[in-house]
Amino acid sequence: MSLRLLAIAAAFVFTQTAYAADPIVIKYSHVVADQSPKGQAALKFKELAEKKFPGVVEVQVFPNSQLFGDGKEMEAMLLGDVQIIAPSLSKFSKYTKRLQIYDLPFLFDNIQAVDRFQDGPYGQALLDSMKDKGIKGLGYLHNGMKQMSANKPLRNPEDAKGLKFRIQSSDVLEAQFNAVGGNPQKIAFAEVYQALQSGVVDGTENPWANTYTKKFHEVQKYIMDSDHGVLDYLVVTNAAWWDGLPANIRKGLNEAMVESIKFGNKVAYEEAANFRQKVIDDKKAEVLPLTRAEQNKWRKAMAPVWKQFEAEIGRDAIFAALKANKR
Ligand code: LMR
Repeated sequence: MSLRLLAIAAAFVFTQTAYAADPIVIKYSHVVADQSPKGQAALKFKELAEKKFPGVVEVQVFPNSQLFGDGKEMEAMLLGDVQIIAPSLSKFSKYTKRLQIYDLPFLFDNIQAVDRFQDGPYGQALLDSMKDKGIKGLGYLHNGMKQMSANKPLRNPEDAKGLKFRIQSSDVLEAQFNAVGGNPQKIAFAEVYQALQSGVVDGTENPWANTYTKKFHEVQKYIMDSDHGVLDYLVVTNAAWWDGLPANIRKGLNEAMVESIKFGNKVAYEEAANFRQKVIDDKKAEVLPLTRAEQNKWRKAMAPVWKQFEAEIGRDAIFAALKANKR
């Protein structure tokens, strides 16, 4: 073998070794439990991505705010300290006001309507609503419809008067509880259990999956079947990092992401009723249905919130969302 060939062979071995020794490490951080729809989707992404690119891609999943909690994870992603996060749609208002649509109370009748809106042109356009901030939306992911809870039954809007409610960092949700005379407090998800237990707040809102997996029902006496809003996610990544990946890897990771979201959505759809039943079976909190008439009172009391945020969200988008309620 000539010296030149030897050098080429040596360089080849060196690149292969370096390649094998340095996998692309993808940190996927979130704030909920592994058993929740988002937790399941993240683990599925790890499984699929590592199967597609054995030894080349390594996905590290950090649940339960272990790596970064609310408030920190977006900045960490933009700084490149974590590659994938999936915050609730209520947590993006610093970057875009348009996603606030998902927080409007009583806008969507159910998760199927949310699906139809997200698949439509308005929902799809929102995936790119933070492009100018270097944030790329990889896809929507469901959790479910939210339920209100407190230490007293919340049958009518007047029952919320004077109560302190933990909310996500959303001005729409703040307006929603202000509209019924409540006292909303923005608190990070990791601190909710303690805030409820210690009485820092009297009540909150969350879907069944979060309530059960974080044991909020152990520190709340009543949970209303209110379905008054939705808690969904946007899986996002740092656009510069994503665009800098080799094309074949980006394509494969995108496929893995699409599949993992489908899986998470299936968990969300199928498990919501089970998580609700588990809360009932635990007998720690009482689950109270709301009659149609009671639900309408809440709807009416919270209706002014729509007008308040209409200019920021866009009237057309609200109409499109309402249309999605009709099959
Ligand atoms: C919350 O803060 O209540 C949720 O956004 C947590 C989550 O990620 O589901």
